[in-house]
Amino acid sequence: MDTHLIKRSDVERVLTMEDCVKATEDAFRLYGEGKTQMPPKSYLYFTDYFGDLRCMPAYIPDIGAAGIKAVNVHPDNRNAHLPTVMATILLTDPKTGFPLAIMDGTHITNMRTGAAGGIAAKYLAKDKCSKAAFIGAGMQAETQVMAMMVTKPSVKKVSIFDINKETADKFARFCKDNYGIEATVAGSIHDACAGADIINCTTSSRKPIVMKADVPAGAHINAIGADAKGKQELDPAILKAAKVVIDDWVQASHSGEINVPVHDKQLTEKDIAAELGKVIAEKKKVRTSDNDITIFDSTGLALQDLVNAWHVYNIFVKTGELGKLQTLQIFG
Ligand SMILES: NC(=O)c1ccc[n+]([C@@H]2O[C@H](COP(=O)([O-])OP(=O)(O)OC[C@H]3O[C@@H](n4cnc5c(N)ncnc54)[C@H](O)[C@@H]3O)[C@@H](O)[C@H]2O)c1
Repeated sequence: MDTHLIKRSDVERVLTMEDCVKATEDAFRLYGEGKTQMPPKSYLYFTDYFGDLRCMPAYIPDIGAAGIKAVNVHPDNRNAHLPTVMATILLTDPKTGFPLAIMDGTHITNMRTGAAGGIAAKYLAKDKCSKAAFIGAGMQAETQVMAMMVTKPSVKKVSIFDINKETADKFARFCKDNYGIEATVAGSIHDACAGADIINCTTSSRKPIVMKADVPAGAHINAIGADAKGKQELDPAILKAAKVVIDDWVQASHSGEINVPVHDKQLTEKDIAAELGKVIAEKKKVRTSDNDITIFDSTGLALQDLVNAWHVYNIFVKTGELGKLQTLQIFG
C-alpha cells in the first residue's frame, strides 16, 4: 500500500478559506459535544536555539479523521530565510493505523489559525463590525484577514501596527489588493486599535504590548500570538475586564494568552467565560452588550489541523488526483 505525499503547493491549490472555516467550525462543535479525542499538545524546548517543537495528535470519529501534527516555532527563522512556523501532518487510517498521507501542515496551520479567529469573531464580536486592527502583520495576520472576510465581510477598514514597518506595509498591500479594504499603517498600537471592532494580535511577544487603555469598548480581541509558556500580548487588566473564551483549558492555561496571569494567580478557571467549542455546540451567548470586550485565546487545537488535513486528502480522493501524487512505500 502507498502512503501519499501531499506537498504544500498541493494543499494551497485545493484548500479555500471558506471550506477551512466550515471544517474548523465543525471540529470545534464536535469538540464542544465531547465527541473527539485530543490529548493536550506536548512541547520540546530548544532553548539554545530560541525555538520549540510541538506534538499534536487528534481523532475525530464522526468524520474518520485521525493523525498527528509536528510543528515548530522559531521566531528568528526569518534570518535563516525560513518561516517561523513549519508543520508536517501524518494522516492515519483509524481502522488499521496505516499512514494514509504525509502532508505539509504549514499552510494548514496558517489557514486553520485564521479560521479559528474568523469563527471566534462570528460568535463573539458585535454584529456590525466595520474596522479591524492588526497588531503584528506577519504570516498569521494574512490568514486572520482572509477568515475575517469570510465571517465578517462588513469590515471595510483595517489599521496595522508591526515593529517592522516594511512588514506592516506589505500586509497593508495584501489587504488592499485581495479585499479592496482601506488599509493604513499606524504609528503605535494605541492608534491602530482606536475605533476597532476586532483586534487581531499575532505577534511573538513575551510581554504585554496591548494595554487596557488601547482597547475600545465593545472590541473583540483575537489573541493568537501567545501559544507557548511565557508568551503574552495583552495587559492582564484587559483579561480581567473582558469575557474570555479559550479553545481548551489545559492548553490555554499552559501556553495561551492566559498562561502568565494564571501562573501569577491573577486569573483562574472561574474567570473564563467558555470554551469556543461549547459556544458553538451549546449556542452559549457570551456577548450581552455592544460594550462588552470579548477575547478569544487561541492556542491551536490538533483537531483544527486534522479536520483540514482530512478535507484536503478527500478532495484528492474525490477528484481522482490522489493516484497522481508522489507516493512512498514506507514499509517496503
Ligand atoms: N494560536 C495559534 O494557533 C497559533 C498558530 C500559529 C502561530 N501562532 C503564533 O503566532 C505568532 C506569529 O506567528 P507568524 O507565523 O505570524 O510569525 P511572523 O514572524 O510571520 O509574524 C510575526 C510578526 O509580529 C511582529 N512583531 C513581533 N513583536 C512585535 C511587537 N512587540 N509589536 C508589534 N509587532 C511585533 C513581527 O515583526 C512579525 O512581523 C507566533 O508567536 C506563533 O507562535 C499561534
